[in-house]
Amino acid sequence: MGIWSKKSISALRAEADSSEGGLKRTLGALNLTMLGIGAIIGAGIFVLTGTAAANFAGPGVSLSFVLAGLACLFAGLCYAEFASMIPIAGSAYTYSYATMGEGVAWFIGWNLILEYLFAASTVAVGWSGYFSAMLNSAGIHLPAAFASAPLTVEGGHNVVRAFTCVNSATGATLLDAATSAAFTARDACTAAGGEVVNGLINLPAVLLIVALTTLLVRGVQESATLNNIIVAIKMTIVLLVIAFGFMYVNKDNWTPFIPEMVTNPDGSTKYGMAGVLRAAPVVFFAYIGFDAVSTAAQEAKNPQRDLPIGMIASLLICTVLYILMSLVMTGLAPYTALGVAHPVSAALEAVPQLKWLENLVNIGAVAGLSSVVLVMLMGQPRIFFTMSRDGLLPPIFGRVHPKFQTPAASTIIVGVIALIIAGFFPLGLLGELVSGGTLAAFATVCIGVLVLRSRSPELERPFRTPLVPLVPILGAGATLYMMYQLPALTWMLLAAWTAIGMTTYFVYGMRNSRIGQQDAKR
Ligand code: ALA
Repeated sequence: MGIWSKKSISALRAEADSSEGGLKRTLGALNLTMLGIGAIIGAGIFVLTGTAAANFAGPGVSLSFVLAGLACLFAGLCYAEFASMIPIAGSAYTYSYATMGEGVAWFIGWNLILEYLFAASTVAVGWSGYFSAMLNSAGIHLPAAFASAPLTVEGGHNVVRAFTCVNSATGATLLDAATSAAFTARDACTAAGGEVVNGLINLPAVLLIVALTTLLVRGVQESATLNNIIVAIKMTIVLLVIAFGFMYVNKDNWTPFIPEMVTNPDGSTKYGMAGVLRAAPVVFFAYIGFDAVSTAAQEAKNPQRDLPIGMIASLLICTVLYILMSLVMTGLAPYTALGVAHPVSAALEAVPQLKWLENLVNIGAVAGLSSVVLVMLMGQPRIFFTMSRDGLLPPIFGRVHPKFQTPAASTIIVGVIALIIAGFFPLGLLGELVSGGTLAAFATVCIGVLVLRSRSPELERPFRTPLVPLVPILGAGATLYMMYQLPALTWMLLAAWTAIGMTTYFVYGMRNSRIGQQDAKR
């Protein structure tokens, strides 16, 4: 027993139905779909598309979006079956508890910390970059030492002191003229007449997390309303870029659509069909978040019907937008020009008639990234809430605020950890760690559908994954393949993270598990 004990579906359903000491049910299908879109459209499309096109796939990055989107759709259909059967805030953690036992559930819960908490910090730092750049272009210059963490990662693995290159007279941030990205070398900055200012703390990122955490403590409905406003803004801007962008596409930029494979000096390759496949796990980050809808299960008015709608609708809408957006970006400018920190602006810059959209894109990115942080900061405490009610985390995470009916203590603890990570730590590596943790959770959910279909075929399933076993097998296969493509360093960090997690489980979780204690009494 212990590590293998499973939670029965009937106990889970009773938990979902009981409202005693529970969260407030206020969200309908529309709000849930908007939450999904709020969590999905963010740094992935606004930042990573450019890198993926320039470094791996060329215009073929649109195909990478199709591939990653299909993998997510298969996983999403599996999530939807579980979410309709077991509408509990723990999401993939709870589904694994019901199918594969406590040890696997803990492993997935621990990986979801990468998906939610670490993603919130990563995207908050991306937000801070866009926000500071927007203020900078409006002539407002934040003190550079307070707009950057003290450390950064160079070349994928070296942790070094972070700095900003500023104009010492005006305080404006200087950019590398060739790439319009931040200066990466101190001497290049001084050679360009700039002053090197070492980073102390990323204050905009910290303040964003403080503001969003405060809102989340006050109420999920209030947070959902803010999210709806932000989603409306970012969708409008994405649609404007697509609609006006298509008018100015230069088809020469799409030829060849998949550039011929090139061998890099280090022996690795780029472009070709292999490049399209390699870019899929990179752009996968852009889809992360649709599953956050399932963490609102206990605040949904009609979860069995609305959770599947929220997840699948948000995923389909974003898949279409991403494919169109990546076609527009690679059609407006040569893909080689897109490997910068603000690729959407870089694409628009290529066409003078589209200059007016550039400021709107910055607003869209600032809005878009903030709702991703909001929904991630909302999802994490709800997973901790469920883990705590199962005895695997201390009781404080399971407390509900008497007035606001939100998991307030858990929300504040998550907010404090997220702001420490965002304010002080190097983030260069986190993106792929976030993807790794999420892919592991997706694969487990796909396998879980197969396990539960064969073990308990009789259970009522308000939403059924179509074409079983094909869809779960394709979902698990595609997510495991993308995991396999992650760099070796990410794998090492994932292994270290798992080792810390499993130690925590044996020291605390296993001993305090409610199911474990019930088993011991029998
Ligand atoms: N999908 C989210 C983003 O792209 C995590 O920012």
